[in-house]
Amino acid sequence: MKGFYAAVAASAISGVFAAPSPVEVRQAASACATPVTLTGNPFAQRSIFANPYYASEVRSAVAQMTDTALAAKAAKVADIGTFQWIDNRAKISIIEDTLKQVPCDKLAAFVIYDLPGRDCAAKASNGELAVGDLPIYKAEYIDPIVALFKKYPNTAIALVIEPDSLPNLVTNIDQVSCQNSATGYREGVAYALKSLALPNIVMYIDAGHGGWLGWNDNLKPGAKELATVYKNAGSPKQVRGISTNVAGWNAFDLSPGEFSKETDAQWNKAQNEKLYVELFSPELTANGMPGQAIVDTGRNGVQGLRKAWGHWCNINGAGFGKRPTATTGSSLVDAFVWVKPGGESDGTSDTSATRYDSFCGKEESFKPSPEAGAWHQAYFEMLVKNANPPL
Ligand code: GLC
Repeated sequence: MKGFYAAVAASAISGVFAAPSPVEVRQAASACATPVTLTGNPFAQRSIFANPYYASEVRSAVAQMTDTALAAKAAKVADIGTFQWIDNRAKISIIEDTLKQVPCDKLAAFVIYDLPGRDCAAKASNGELAVGDLPIYKAEYIDPIVALFKKYPNTAIALVIEPDSLPNLVTNIDQVSCQNSATGYREGVAYALKSLALPNIVMYIDAGHGGWLGWNDNLKPGAKELATVYKNAGSPKQVRGISTNVAGWNAFDLSPGEFSKETDAQWNKAQNEKLYVELFSPELTANGMPGQAIVDTGRNGVQGLRKAWGHWCNINGAGFGKRPTATTGSSLVDAFVWVKPGGESDGTSDTSATRYDSFCGKEESFKPSPEAGAWHQAYFEMLVKNANPPL
């Protein structure tokens, strides 16, 4: 019990707190006593719950550390609220472990990430479902997740929807794999948005980052792609807008931006994530989709590490970035969030692995690195050491 009960004004939050009976004091940190309806910026009233999955990854990591000063800093990460990735059907079984523990002043946060033909322009995060498996995605992935969320109407939930998927259809549609994935992505995301539109849920559709859809030529097609899927889903009001920089490295408001001296910078005005949101959001609203954003600041504490904007895999020298907060200095940005769980790998550096992607072999990629999603102890310790602000 974290003592939140006295610290939080129940009236500020929709959904009423349960009054604890003396024997139930430990239970006081449970869901609201009445159903939650999320409106406005959900992060203004609630912070993200530190889910038990990541907390236990962090605790095991800390137990392996011999540097006690570093271990003490690392231990603090277990209390930071992060998104929990439901990256295959088997992970659905751990959703409830989180949901049943979320207090009324917190949001449970998940990433919906299992589209057929996933990660069509890369290899490291290719998923369990093949192109054509849309019926499986619907019936065995989305539907059971919806059923679970319906069991917890008194719990506030934030979702990031299918990182990289729609952006890939905008810029990588020259690749046959993305052409093959396109229908499944569009129909799958629309189905997810429609099915997950419950009053206690807020959703952000992934929009890549400034170095992706931020190029002058990509802004309009990007907004059109996302907004079309949103409208095909019936324009659910639980969609607030977009997530940006998920698992990415871009600074929020560094100026001039990290790559603004490059010769091609003239073609991209979105040289940091704040600029990207400011440019992309009006394009979304012009297409009839809301344009609020959440920005992943989980691993962007250190800048100047990448040789090119598009280098995405286990960047060496990285540090944890700004802590999750709703104080962003931008009315368009609902919150800084930690979507990628820092310490989980982006992809293997083993060149003989099926999911080996050459981006994980780049000079600035940390090696050796395990498979995407697997715990990466040395990388985690580096993120702790280089955290900015420090832990
Ligand atoms: C990568 C992996 C996925 C994992 C996620 C978060 O995208 O492919 O399995 O859950 O990162 O670490």
